[in-house]
Amino acid sequence: MIPFFPSSRVYLDTLGPADADALAEIHGEGFPRPWLAGDFASLIAGANVGAVGMRRQSPFGFSRLVGFVLYRHASDEAEILSIAVRRSHRGRGHGRLLMDEALRRLYRDRIKTCFLEVDPGNEAAVSLYRKIGFEQVGSRKDYYKRPGGGAGSALILRLELQ
Ligand SMILES: CC(C)(COP(=O)(O)OP(=O)(O)OC[C@H]1O[C@@H](n2cnc3c(N)ncnc32)[C@H](O)[C@@H]1OP(=O)(O)O)[C@@H](O)C(=O)NCCC(=O)NCCS
Repeated sequence: MIPFFPSSRVYLDTLGPADADALAEIHGEGFPRPWLAGDFASLIAGANVGAVGMRRQSPFGFSRLVGFVLYRHASDEAEILSIAVRRSHRGRGHGRLLMDEALRRLYRDRIKTCFLEVDPGNEAAVSLYRKIGFEQVGSRKDYYKRPGGGAGSALILRLELQ
C-alpha cells in the first residue's frame, strides 16, 4: 500500500533575527558573493528594514524557509535589498508572491516609489520585475564583481506604488 501524506503547504511570514542562518544559506545558493548570517541578523534588526519569508510546512509538522525578500525604506522611498528562493523551489511562483507581499506592505506604509538593482544577465529576475511593472530608470557601471574578475553593470529599476 502507498502511504498517504497530506500535501505540504507554503505560507508567507515576517522574518526575524532567528532566521539569519537560513537566510544566509538561501542567499548562498543564489548569489556568487554570499552574505553571512551576521549580516542578515544586523540588517533585520534595522528599524527601516522589512523581511518577508516563504515557509514550507512539512506534513510532519516542522517548517522550513524556502525563500525571502528584504527591503529597506526611508521617507517615501524603498529599495529591494535582496530576494532569493531555494533552487529546489524556484519556478513555482514563490518569488512573485514574495515581491507582491513586500510591495503590499510598502504601499500600506505609504511608500511611493520602490527601486532595485539587477544584473541584466539575470533573466529570471529581470523578467519577474518587469512583469510586476518595474521600469528601467538608469544603470550603475561596474556594480557586480564577477567571480573570475572584472565587473558588470546593474540596471536600476523603479516602480511607482501610489
Ligand atoms: C529571481 C528568483 C527570486 C525568482 O524566484 P521564483 O520563485 O523562481 O520565481 P517565480 O516562480 O515566482 O516566477 C515569477 C516570474 O519570474 C520569471 N522567471 C522565473 N524564473 C524564470 C526563469 N528561469 N527564466 C525566465 N524567467 C523566469 C517569470 O517571468 C515568472 O513569471 P511566469 O511564471 O508567469 O513566467 C529566483 O530565480 C532566485 O532566487 N534567483 C537567485 C537569486 C536572484 O537572482 N535574485 C534576484 C537578484 S536581483
